[in-house]
Amino acid sequence: MGRLGLKALLFGASGQLGTAISAACAATSDIELTCVPRSVDISDAAKVSASVESERPQWVINCAAMTNVDGAHENPAIAMGVNALGPANIARAAESVGARVIQISTEAVFDGERTSAYAEDDACNPVAVYGISKLAGEMMVRLYNPSSFVLRTSWLYSSNSGVNFPTRLLQQLNSHDGPVSVVTDVVGNATPSAVLAEAVLAVIASPPDPGVYHACCVGAVTKFDWAVEIARTGGFDPSRIVQVTSADYPTVALRPKYVDLSCEKFLATGVYLLPTWQDAWRADRL
Ligand SMILES: NC(=O)c1ccc[n+]([C@@H]2O[C@H](COP(=O)([O-])OP(=O)(O)OC[C@H]3O[C@@H](n4cnc5c(N)ncnc54)[C@H](OP(=O)(O)O)[C@@H]3O)[C@@H](O)[C@H]2O)c1
Repeated sequence: MGRLGLKALLFGASGQLGTAISAACAATSDIELTCVPRSVDISDAAKVSASVESERPQWVINCAAMTNVDGAHENPAIAMGVNALGPANIARAAESVGARVIQISTEAVFDGERTSAYAEDDACNPVAVYGISKLAGEMMVRLYNPSSFVLRTSWLYSSNSGVNFPTRLLQQLNSHDGPVSVVTDVVGNATPSAVLAEAVLAVIASPPDPGVYHACCVGAVTKFDWAVEIARTGGFDPSRIVQVTSADYPTVALRPKYVDLSCEKFLATGVYLLPTWQDAWRADRL
């Protein structure tokens, strides 16, 4: 048992955020964390229930998700199974042992059609299957586990995953001397997985009122401006970053263009001080 006397169960432990949560937990030892193996498919209610029953934790953290946005568009049944039914299975199993859930969600529940920050109670209007399935997952968790938390985040990155934007950009900058095109009309909140991991553990340590919260770095940035900062701090010539628009890079599924998640509600709880994206990037550079 950790110093706080709390046991938590983690689904999605091998993913980008799951890895960061395991590391943050190991660093503090306040919470005893058990990682559910990947062989437990969260869309399998019986397996989820057996995992939760055998550990009987006070908290269940769900980082497992189908995060491939185009893949979700091509395979809506799988996306709904993992991103909507999976959280439902977890929330029901948790509720049956008296555990609370922390469900990780996404800025993609919004359509990104405005240029001001979104608050938690602003209307959701996902533009693709991924966001639809994640919104359904939020609703399932809130329905089956009313004392749960939904933490919506945005543009996660970390050195433990090769599939995030800064890692890929730095690989490109390293692999040749030429220009690298980056979209300038897509806006989000660049957030290190380590920051969200600490925020998750802080919620467990001193839970605020249950509900939906935005939990990401403060301040929105375009992919282009972020790329310039990544290049500059990585010792590359920032002029190699060339502006293009998302129309130049059509994708299978739509992405919301402008989503700035307002974190005022989370910050007002005093549970954890979310940094600005600039401070987080400079502190946590890859
Ligand atoms: N990455 C971002 O920029 C971002 C932004 C906003 C919100 N989020 C949300 O943040 C959370 C964590 O994202 P992440 O970046 O850590 O994603 P990730 O690296 O793709 O990790 C997802 C994890 O879920 C596992 N998984 C997939 N399907 C599963 C299933 N059916 N049963 C059990 N496990 C399954 C994956 O395993 P395999 O790899 O073996 O399939 C992986 O370990 C997700 O809820 C995501 O929607 C992410």
